[in-house]
Amino acid sequence: MTNYKDLGLVNSREMFSKAVTGGYAIPAYNFNNMEQLQAIIMACVETKSPVILQVSKGARDYANINILKNMARGATEYAHELGCDIPVVLHLDHGDSFKTAKDCIDNGFSSVMIDGSHFPYEENVALTKQVVEYAHKFDVTVEGELGVLAGIEDDVVAEHSTYTQPEEVIDFVSKTGVDSLAISIGTSHGANKFKPEQCTRNADGVLIPPPLRFDILEEIEKQLPGFPIVLHGSSSVPQVFVKMINDNGGHLENSVGIPEEQLRKAAKSAVCKINIDSDARLAMTATVRRVFNEKPGEFDPRKYLGPARAALKEMYMEKNINVLGSANHA
Ligand code: G3H
Ligand code: 13P
Ligand code: ZN
Repeated sequence: MTNYKDLGLVNSREMFSKAVTGGYAIPAYNFNNMEQLQAIIMACVETKSPVILQVSKGARDYANINILKNMARGATEYAHELGCDIPVVLHLDHGDSFKTAKDCIDNGFSSVMIDGSHFPYEENVALTKQVVEYAHKFDVTVEGELGVLAGIEDDVVAEHSTYTQPEEVIDFVSKTGVDSLAISIGTSHGANKFKPEQCTRNADGVLIPPPLRFDILEEIEKQLPGFPIVLHGSSSVPQVFVKMINDNGGHLENSVGIPEEQLRKAAKSAVCKINIDSDARLAMTATVRRVFNEKPGEFDPRKYLGPARAALKEMYMEKNINVLGSANHA
């Protein structure tokens, strides 16, 4: 059993209460490898932002939980070395079972998500409650989910989103005891969040997605005043990276994300955690492709992963400062 406090981590409770009252959101960035983690920590230290390091089931399978745990310890020590002990959470993203959540808690995670959103309501309640009861023994915070996002969540594929029903949230939160709630108001996972037929096009032919359902968010806030709300699927899919990928031999079509001004608006509300993964994948891929294209003789991984890490750092800083508003809140 590893206690997260011994890794220099914190749970999300205080972070969220400050974010809700302060009108900003904590960045929740997924990581799978060292360069991503270094970029996240460098960016969050430089912008003095708290941060949630997210590990999906896919990341666990890819990187190994022992390695990830010790990377998180390294991350807190690295932040200290860089001169700012920012609050760092290690969070399980889209936990699929009690066993997965328990395994993460026992391995030093300070926060877990249990995603029972694709189960019938009562099953979601029972599973979430079981995880909360175990997690709270160790002061680990728990995120639950109500409503289903369109797109792919690990192995679960949903064709259409099912918006969160505001009339269910009080019952869910009181029966389960969760510390935060992920909701579905029109975001979705991946780099192709909307089908072209759901979008309009501006004068330059750029796809404009349908707006998020802020009316549902407002209703949820009325039901649960001050309660921490989480938005998944919140990459903005910067077209500069999409173009860079396509200009350097890639092929991405109809990739469209959540406009930044809508995320800014959400961050000012009860939304206090915003999940971003795809944008980092795009930034890394775009940079690596460009290096390969410009320097076909390059075969030292540091010469393409280094520039990818620099691009990631810049992107994370930009998000903390201009989108989430988390800068200077560490
Ligand atoms: O919500 C999904 C995240 O983007 C994680 O994706 O399971 O491929 O690591 P992954
Ligand atoms: P994106 O695919 O929009 O980056 O969302 C990531 C996410 O929600 C991780 O849980
Ligand atoms: Zn997600």
